[in-house]
Amino acid sequence: MQATILDKETPQKGISDEKILELDELYCSHGDTVHYDKAPKVFSDCEGSFMFDSEGTEYLDLQMMFAACNFGYKNKRISDAVIDQINKMPQICPRYLYDYKTLLAEKIAKANIERFGEKGRVHFNVGGSQAIEDALKLIRNYTKKQRMFAFFGGYHGRTMGAACLTAGYRYREPFGHFADEAHFVPYPYCYRCPYGKNCEDCNYYCVQQLRREFEDGCSGLYNHGTKSSECAAFFVEPVQGSGGYIVPPMGYFKELKKVLDDFGVLFVSDEIQMGFYRTGKLWSIEHFGVTPDVITFSKSLTNGMNPLGGMWAKEEFINPDIWPAGRTHSTFCNNPLGTRAGYEVMSILEEEDWETEVTQKGEYFLKGLKYLEGKHKRIGTVDGLGLALRIECVTEDGYTPDPELRQKIQDEGMKGNLEYHGRKCGIILHSGSHYKNAITLVPPITISYNEINMAIELIDQLFTRFSN
Ligand SMILES: Cc1ncc(COP(=O)(O)O)c(C=O)c1O
Repeated sequence: MQATILDKETPQKGISDEKILELDELYCSHGDTVHYDKAPKVFSDCEGSFMFDSEGTEYLDLQMMFAACNFGYKNKRISDAVIDQINKMPQICPRYLYDYKTLLAEKIAKANIERFGEKGRVHFNVGGSQAIEDALKLIRNYTKKQRMFAFFGGYHGRTMGAACLTAGYRYREPFGHFADEAHFVPYPYCYRCPYGKNCEDCNYYCVQQLRREFEDGCSGLYNHGTKSSECAAFFVEPVQGSGGYIVPPMGYFKELKKVLDDFGVLFVSDEIQMGFYRTGKLWSIEHFGVTPDVITFSKSLTNGMNPLGGMWAKEEFINPDIWPAGRTHSTFCNNPLGTRAGYEVMSILEEEDWETEVTQKGEYFLKGLKYLEGKHKRIGTVDGLGLALRIECVTEDGYTPDPELRQKIQDEGMKGNLEYHGRKCGIILHSGSHYKNAITLVPPITISYNEINMAIELIDQLFTRFSN
């Protein structure tokens, strides 16, 4: 048999970065997100708030596997739980029951009774997009309608159904016509209000516009004769994630919900990125005093350990008479490693006062960012809720979005040549936003105050490098 490169150089023996890049070039599809970067970065270890490259240089990670690791990398308690599950019962056909699937569902269902006073059920699947697919099916199954509302700037995944709700045309353009594309509505992005209003005195002009569309019998949203909306549900990110960590005014969703209730439209809170105390509450929608009909979740449910996502829905929509056996399924949907990790995550969340912890750390972090905003002209605004934070990069005029600057700063952080307390280090930043100019900061919620200080210092160094 012909020897392969791996016979000589295995990951255990320490395959070089160059070889990894060579293999990637030869054998890996470039269709995932690795090649968003011209020079993809190779990492070899992770711990807590840091990633490490093969030279041992540390990178403070402020994106945490696209917000999938709220408890930091290699969290011992979650790893131990998964290892225990590997030894006990790592596999089971999803046709059969076992303890942790039901225990995790119970925790989520009870958490929602506590928060919303609503009985409901949980349905698991393998990731965020799949959770969205299932929520779509649940709503279509109940309402017999296909169209949904979603927001400009929203991101709900890239599978075919989820891509119908994801606003960016770039996610759909190569694939032809998407028949069930959502009706997109402007997000309350008040710093750059799509209607040019001032959020202090606009009286929720954007919501009024939506109401007006419903009331107008010719607008195409509502049939006043049959009293039926063409769109069955509104898929909402209470704090927009990929859209740039935009926090709407606190009264916004109550106003929106009034319109949706008046015209019979359901409310889905997509908590895939903002759930599990990212914003200081289990679900980000809790900040806004609104009870959703369906919640989707994934990412930090397992702290990035094993793919698992799911949806919770009010009993009315998911009871077994309406949603009987086999309505949706994947071989891996209830996988024991994921549900065990999820159970551990929910247990950790129940045991400590994360609301206070995340709120206080978030305020401290935001204070540091505001200091940087005062110092650097090229920071247009900073904002955040809990530990979901953002920095808008702007041109010299202080307001025009500057996506090139954002890209330069992000790339510079990845070079690993910043300095903190005499140590060489890097910083991993992520970006989002309607204009590709926002740096989104997603530290683990376990980040220490010293690490927040480090983050502020490193971001300061980056903006200083590009201050002219
Ligand atoms: C709000 C939101 N919904 C859905 C998804 C899709 O999740 P996944 O990447 O696991 O398919 C994401 C991913 O970033 C997300 O942020």
